[in-house]
Amino acid sequence: MAMKLPFFKYKEDDETVQYGDGNTPEHIAIIMDGNGRWAQRRGMPRFAGHKEGLSTVVKIVKAAVKCKVKALTLYTFSTENWKRPKSEVDFILRLPKEFLHVYLPDLMANNVRIKTIGDIEKLPLHTREAVQYAMDRTRDNDGLQLNFALNYGSRHELLNAMKAMYTDLNDGKLSWDDVDEQHFSCYLDTADLPDPDLLIRTGGEKRLSNYLLWQLAYTEFWFTDVLWPDFTEKDFFQALEEYRQRKRRFGGL
Ligand code: FPP
Repeated sequence: MAMKLPFFKYKEDDETVQYGDGNTPEHIAIIMDGNGRWAQRRGMPRFAGHKEGLSTVVKIVKAAVKCKVKALTLYTFSTENWKRPKSEVDFILRLPKEFLHVYLPDLMANNVRIKTIGDIEKLPLHTREAVQYAMDRTRDNDGLQLNFALNYGSRHELLNAMKAMYTDLNDGKLSWDDVDEQHFSCYLDTADLPDPDLLIRTGGEKRLSNYLLWQLAYTEFWFTDVLWPDFTEKDFFQALEEYRQRKRRFGGL
């Protein structure tokens, strides 16, 4: 019997990728962990790891476009990351501007739409302006939706959603009879997105770190020890290939 070829086939020699007609996740969420350790292992400052992490973002966005993934949500800065030294926080929050300054034309050419989740009002003005400009420019694109989770924390998002829903109930804009899971999801930052099909976490830790707690209820998880700056297109395709082979039952049989 002929061996079934993997759907996502990566060939390092000529960099071609073979796509089949398999089961591609529509929405992939990524926790990009390991930048600091990558740098420290090389005797470099943590910033160097974040900078290298940005190059990985570029590679993985390209790979997601190639695979016709509909949405990619990247955990870029969490509500807990403010606890880091100010110099590191400042550095990370300059990366969106740096990335968009260089790659916005490419993103436009590839029909990518930029969006954010999280409380961006609390970010520095330069970060907000860069992101807002990219969101405005890419508003009409209908290819990959690239979401940067910026100042994002799931518990904060859930509390805000509950408050907003309570206000609507109080103001008579919503009736208790209409409150169900689907309706509640409309109050979340991800209201315009399907729940992630696949969560990838790099860097060896196996936890959710306050990421998309509601949305990940039935998501397939894929963990790797590879640190984010070392994460390659090949690793990404391996995750997609393993996802393809999983049976999703959503609690059924
Ligand atoms: C976690 O690794 C990483 C972050 C908190 C920052 C993630 C940011 C990027 C990958 C670059 C973002 C790029 C764009 C385009 C906005 P860590 O520092 O916690 O690593 P460690 O666990 O090794 O310390």
